[in-house]
Amino acid sequence: MAELHPHCVPLAPLLGTWQGGGTGQYPTIDDFSYTEELTFGHVGKPFVSMIQRTRNAVTGEPLHSEAGYLRAVGDGQIELSLAQPSGVTEICLGTVRTTADGLAIELASEHVALTPTAKEVTSVRRELSIVGIGSSKGPRLVSELWMAAVGHGELLHHLRGELTLQA
Ligand code: HEM
Repeated sequence: MAELHPHCVPLAPLLGTWQGGGTGQYPTIDDFSYTEELTFGHVGKPFVSMIQRTRNAVTGEPLHSEAGYLRAVGDGQIELSLAQPSGVTEICLGTVRTTADGLAIELASEHVALTPTAKEVTSVRRELSIVGIGSSKGPRLVSELWMAAVGHGELLHHLRGELTLQA
């Protein structure tokens, strides 16, 4: 296995496959709950790949998925390039910070580009935190997302998920 690129060291706690679930909301839709699998990998270059799949927690039907790269550019600065099958693509900029028991990533969209038939999304904010490294329960990955979309100009909460690392 390749050695982790030095720029990616702060992102190392992400590596592996996480599973869990969460809940979602937006003013224009019914509240929902989902299950999620999220895998982070690396090849020794200064980025970490990410691929996510979700399902409806009640029916098991596939919901949202996304795939992209967290590019570690040094000094705790990161860039995200991400594609979604809904026709939404995001370029986000942000930071990664090591915390007492994990890490904290904050990202805000610099550009959102849409295919002609995608629903309108104008900006996105993402937070990813790992907590509980070294605790008896093991690490947990908490993700939250806000978006300005479908006529709402301000960032409103869409998702909160909580995942555990698979052995
Ligand atoms: C865990 C990941 C996600 C899940 C489980 C999820 C789930 C859902 C569900 C169930 C709906 C309502 C039904 C539908 O339109 O399909 C929805 C709507 C929507 N989602 Fe998400 N979503 C996720 C992530 C995202 C992301 C990352 C974005 C954009 C950055 C996004 C943008 C939207 C938009 C624009 C709508 C349409 C709202 C409307 O038509 O009023 N979603 N999402």
